[in-house]
Amino acid sequence: MHKRPTLASWQQLEAMAAGKKSQHMNDLFAQDAHRFDKFSIELPSLMLDYSKNLIDSETLTTLLALAEETQVGQWREKMFRGDKINKTENRAVLHTALRASANKPLIVDGENITEQVQKQLNKMEAFVNKVRQGHWLGYSGKRITDIVNIGVGGSNLGPQMVTEALKNYSDNSVNVHYVSNVDGAQIAEILRPLEPEKVLFIVSSKTFTTTETMTNAKTAINWLTAASFDQKAVAKHFVAVTANKINAGEFGIEADNIFDMWDWVGGRFSLWSAIGLPIALDLGFDKFKELLQGAAEMDQHFLDAPLAQNMPVIMALLSVWNTTFLGSKSQAILPYDQTLHMLAAYLQQAEMESNGKSVSWDGDEIDYATVPSIWGELGINGQHAFYQYLHQSNNVVPADFIGSVESVTPVKGHHETLMANFFAQTQALMTGVNETQVRADLKAKGRSEQYINAIAPHKVHKGNRPTNTILLKRIDPNTLGQLIALYEQKIFVQGIILQICSFDQWGVELGKGLAANIQQELESVSSENVHDSSTQNLISYYKKHQQ
Ligand code: F6P
Repeated sequence: MHKRPTLASWQQLEAMAAGKKSQHMNDLFAQDAHRFDKFSIELPSLMLDYSKNLIDSETLTTLLALAEETQVGQWREKMFRGDKINKTENRAVLHTALRASANKPLIVDGENITEQVQKQLNKMEAFVNKVRQGHWLGYSGKRITDIVNIGVGGSNLGPQMVTEALKNYSDNSVNVHYVSNVDGAQIAEILRPLEPEKVLFIVSSKTFTTTETMTNAKTAINWLTAASFDQKAVAKHFVAVTANKINAGEFGIEADNIFDMWDWVGGRFSLWSAIGLPIALDLGFDKFKELLQGAAEMDQHFLDAPLAQNMPVIMALLSVWNTTFLGSKSQAILPYDQTLHMLAAYLQQAEMESNGKSVSWDGDEIDYATVPSIWGELGINGQHAFYQYLHQSNNVVPADFIGSVESVTPVKGHHETLMANFFAQTQALMTGVNETQVRADLKAKGRSEQYINAIAPHKVHKGNRPTNTILLKRIDPNTLGQLIALYEQKIFVQGIILQICSFDQWGVELGKGLAANIQQELESVSSENVHDSSTQNLISYYKKHQQ
């Protein structure tokens, strides 16, 4: 396999990047009246404007050549047909099968994946209806009013982000809560107002070994059985979603109450599986299917659209351009829709756990920058907090602005103010304001020459800060499904271009192992001197002050 920096397109992009850094987007817009038409993609219910990036037609052509040279199209086929592209774990990557058509068999290792998925969807539907319609009863014969999902990482962020994003579509048949942190403060606060006889717990863990989740699940079982005085109550109040049925069974979950996960679904791509149960319980199964349908539509676009018109491909190429070639170190996710307030947290896992790596899939050290660190916040809140940095710091932070044409909860005048800011910010980040403009403005305001000389440098905004704008018609289950799948496929393409295995996460294992050993030390009276002096003394201090 060719190393990426040896590819012709890669070398051309390297050469181009140096020149591009000295250009200003203002000039690129001035030179080309059709820039928006050239650098935007419109789908039926969402559009991407990427014209405010430091690219021109030649850059785009060369980026697309990189996608060709790295065989993005072929890799895409491999993923969808179930080849084992998760090389380090020897697994297929088939979260796309979770939302694919029920009529198209997909055979992997002799198993019909479509059949397995449909079987679980049917099981989910029956369960969701039973709970929502009040037919699933707790140990005292009362209906379930509250769902507590216990899970962390992919077994939490996706479902919780979607629950928040679609909360206007909930009919409040049940209340959904999420426990992810092993800090007892979270579960204690969530359980405090709840009545055990009316609560259903979902223990969501692909591996069913995650310490934080197991600890929270044990606490939940104790809380329930302390109220019910009966271990049998667990069967009426606990279900599990896992690929490890043995552990779930040993933990005390009834076999019928276990929903399947598969090794071909990565945790961070799993909200489309039974890991999405809390979403379906909150919204009803039909709306959950609309979410799947939206994702399937984006998958179809990803499969069918030519690379130049392909949203995930373009977004991946721009990320590589901004990060690997232009040198940006981070990327901001800035939703202008209150309900998307967890999107940045969700994408942090999706992108950074997938591509935050520095070894190629062949095991070679990578000497080019891979993915940026992802961070973000609701745009409006960010404007009054960290946008100063976006506008005037000497680090350029490319940003994705995400907004919707229609508000799902219209309050007179609010959406216009919100969206005026949305459009103004990407404009300001791109155009900036130069010293001549600043001076003219201050002069027009009647400021003295002395004042102007002192203040002008502080008011200059260099602009030229790249942004993508994603505009959805409105946030609903279908468009949200499209948006999430857009980012999932972007992350996949990024991984291919950067030659990274996007579907493992070895980097989280080291800390897990150390924590397990340290926990034993914390629980024992004596303490061996086995750590570096910093860690050893911190542990000693902690233990000493605990007594
Ligand atoms: O520690 C990281 C991680 O392995 C994620 O990849 C995963 O989503 C999360 O932990 C939870 O894992 P599980 O679903 O197996 O409990």
